[in-house]
Amino acid sequence: MTAVLAPAATAAPASVPSRAAPPCAVVIVGATGDLARRKLMPALYALAAQGALGEHVTIVGASRQQLSDSEFREQMREAVATHGRLSVQAEVWQRLEPALRYVTLDPHEPRTYTALREVLEWSDRTFGTQGNRLVHLAIPPSAIGETVRELAVSGVVARRPRDHFARIIVEKPFGRDLRSAQDLNRRLHRFLDESQIFRIDHYLGKESVQNLLVLRFANSVFEPIWNAQHIDHVQITVAETVGVEGRGGYYEESGALRDMVQSHLLQLVSLVGMEPPVRLDAGSIRDEKVKLLRSIPSLDEAGVLRSTVRGQYGPGIIDGVPVPGYREEEGVDPQSLRETYAAVRLEVDSWRWAGTPFYLRTGKRLQRRTSEIGVHFRRPPRFLFPTGSGEESRDLENLLIIRIQPDEGITLCVNSKHRGATMRVTPVGLDFWYSGVRDVGVAPPDAYERLLIDAMLGDATLFTREDEVEEAWRFCTSILDWWEAHPPALDEFPNYRAGSWGPHAADLLLAREGRAWRNPSQPSLRAIAES
Ligand code: BG6
Repeated sequence: MTAVLAPAATAAPASVPSRAAPPCAVVIVGATGDLARRKLMPALYALAAQGALGEHVTIVGASRQQLSDSEFREQMREAVATHGRLSVQAEVWQRLEPALRYVTLDPHEPRTYTALREVLEWSDRTFGTQGNRLVHLAIPPSAIGETVRELAVSGVVARRPRDHFARIIVEKPFGRDLRSAQDLNRRLHRFLDESQIFRIDHYLGKESVQNLLVLRFANSVFEPIWNAQHIDHVQITVAETVGVEGRGGYYEESGALRDMVQSHLLQLVSLVGMEPPVRLDAGSIRDEKVKLLRSIPSLDEAGVLRSTVRGQYGPGIIDGVPVPGYREEEGVDPQSLRETYAAVRLEVDSWRWAGTPFYLRTGKRLQRRTSEIGVHFRRPPRFLFPTGSGEESRDLENLLIIRIQPDEGITLCVNSKHRGATMRVTPVGLDFWYSGVRDVGVAPPDAYERLLIDAMLGDATLFTREDEVEEAWRFCTSILDWWEAHPPALDEFPNYRAGSWGPHAADLLLAREGRAWRNPSQPSLRAIAES
């Protein structure tokens, strides 16, 4: 049963940015790659279409390929048409096109960095970009250190320039374990201050992830019960139905723990668990997030054995379509031992959270695409009411579900009297969904739109700081070290079927403690409400 809370109305359309970019040149290193085409250029176009990029913003593509400006412009137009959330409007494109330039950049050829600097000088002269540079490094992690050195040596970016800004955006994964992340941080700091480095985790750009801060700190009802005394446990699920999508090579090196847990899932943990920040600025919020991450104890051998599960998908059926197993994917070793699924039970050793475990899981080729946080409250000390047949008392716990995607929104499950002559109790959901709010109708902004404009404006709140990344790696490295020293036997994988909810061992991880994963396979509450 669902009770629908009519969303209260509304301000200006959510996707129209209220802030405009300052004059600057946005440089995309790796401009012919997948990320630039799928995400960066469509996001920049959407910002332009919404009036957030004024006439003093240019976009300079750089990569190894030999392309003319007009070839680059054509490729970018196509990228927006194929991947953009807004269709290409001739008038917007005509305004944007002259501000797009291309430079061939060879990492081993310093001369090419000088060519990049010259285009940026052109940008300053012609478009009034005032020497401001935002360099987005959409390149493999192994190339970042050297590229930043060349950018600095050639004068494209300088440490803390006085009368303009120079910032870099670094994509994830930031390193592949604690040691390499520390090493990369050291290499970047040789040339740039921390305030110039914007490490991206695109989950922080998602509306519903930002709403977590609002939910927690703009409402007074949650804070008094947001602790171990009232919360039994927290579940975070990031389930994907896609496989490795042609990225077999990358995934073989990475795996689910590095790809998802170290970044997106631990970011969600830190936002759910952090203390209220003293102010809403980058420093205060990141201080609290890092404190939370610091209070997650690393796992020793017994901890890894007891609290983690790894899995790999075999062939199966997703949405009625047969799909191959991981070992049959392109670019994957047919005997691969790489995990495509990870579940982790972690504790937060703090006054607020001692005694409340956080269960995290993520995987490819699971039954449904869904990312959600479930805050499971403790049951009443004594349950007075009869339940319906087949209902376990577990079904009657109060549960706050924060849906990140799809169907972004929040559901609070409470118990209510079943209509009729008995005092039978049944759960109902008080449901809020973003797309029900009157101001939409326009699709929500893509995470990259929010993150790119923030970086242009120098707001680092939604980017991860050096110490945050290292704390997340400290925890994950304690698992990875053991996992890598003790690989599964060849026949242990695959251990879950594509289209299932993951390995059986992950169910046992919770069952051992009298709990169960919430598998959102039932129709969404929204669908029920609308029917
Ligand atoms: C990326 C991972 O960071 O996030 C991918 O590298 C994953 O493997 C993706 O598919 C998921 O992002 P989203 O926004 O689709 O949940």
